[in-house]
Amino acid sequence: MSLDIAVHASTSPRPDEERASVLAAPGFGQTFTDHMVTARWTPDGGWHEAQVRPYAPLQLDPATAVLHYAQAIFEGFKAYRHADGSVWTFRPEANGERFARSARRLALPELPVEDFVAAADALIRTDEAWVPEGGEKSLYLRPFMFAQEAFLGVRPAKDVLFCVIASPAGAYFARGVRPVSIWLSEDYTRAAPGGTGAAKCAGNYAASLVAQQEAIEQGCDQVAFLDAVERRWVEELGGMNLYFVLDDDSIVTPELTGTILEGITRASIIQLAGELGHKVEERRVGIDEWREGAASGRIREVFACGTAAVVTPVGRLAWRGGEVTTGDGETVGPVTSAVRQALLDVQHGRRPDEHGWLHRVC
Ligand code: PLP
Ligand code: COI
Repeated sequence: MSLDIAVHASTSPRPDEERASVLAAPGFGQTFTDHMVTARWTPDGGWHEAQVRPYAPLQLDPATAVLHYAQAIFEGFKAYRHADGSVWTFRPEANGERFARSARRLALPELPVEDFVAAADALIRTDEAWVPEGGEKSLYLRPFMFAQEAFLGVRPAKDVLFCVIASPAGAYFARGVRPVSIWLSEDYTRAAPGGTGAAKCAGNYAASLVAQQEAIEQGCDQVAFLDAVERRWVEELGGMNLYFVLDDDSIVTPELTGTILEGITRASIIQLAGELGHKVEERRVGIDEWREGAASGRIREVFACGTAAVVTPVGRLAWRGGEVTTGDGETVGPVTSAVRQALLDVQHGRRPDEHGWLHRVC
């Protein structure tokens, strides 16, 4: 049986003018809509108390398990307003399936995919006025789940909260669509075999921050991680997958090894780039192949992809003692640009949705 979601509307939603000013320049992850969804899980009750309710702080006991042992997972996907005013999400079931896989890895209870999708739908319908119009704007949905039991023993929690919040989104990078620079992390890895790299769990991001900080200190925007065993194979960035465009017009992305997050944007690009006429390969990519290929011209373009960043060109790769730039480091390469446009066109309803990726919400 699917979850019953009660709706308790806010009595003090933000005034229209305030919302309009946020939607005019939303940035990323800074402002949240008037409501949120919560549902609770206990061993005896299963998932229950599902509701849309006014957005508000959560009160947590200082012994709440997640604050100590990081039993927490999250997702990210977007809702788009099409030209006719309708609102659609992009592949929400795929996010729901990944959420369930992350839950299994973190010993959290699984939320059925249909409930995951219905929870987001209920929030979007309640806060429909917060879905921006036009351009490349969207409403970013952030479902998450964490151990809310107040208990310091180390074991899977018996009291878990599922929550969905939403935030109007523009460009993830403040400078807009311009090539970002990447710092190669040689001291830190993101994920090891048998670890949690393929799960979207909070701890992965916590562990990436010192490397991201190093990237910023080195004058770069983002950090790239290598595999933890040989320190040789390119995995991904802290929050995005990577693609390489070769001089024969084929495109390559690191294969899924269990330590890389299986990006839904990554998977969609495999399909779309094929339809644009590119040969797409999933295989291991060595860091030397990146360095040498960028220098020789064998690699013509590099781009990163993810829900928040969509498709973002990568220009410079820097490491201790060297750097190399793909393209002119300033403009967006033609393949990156075509893939980016094709993806955005499907999401915004400007290109036929041949794969049934769009889910109508309202
Ligand atoms: N890799 C990591 C580590 C991420 O956090 C994300 C973002 O969600 C991605 C890749 C891209 O995944 P998706 O395309 O599903 O957003
Ligand atoms: C996303 O793209 O949805 C992400 O989760 C990346 C980052 C904001 C954590």
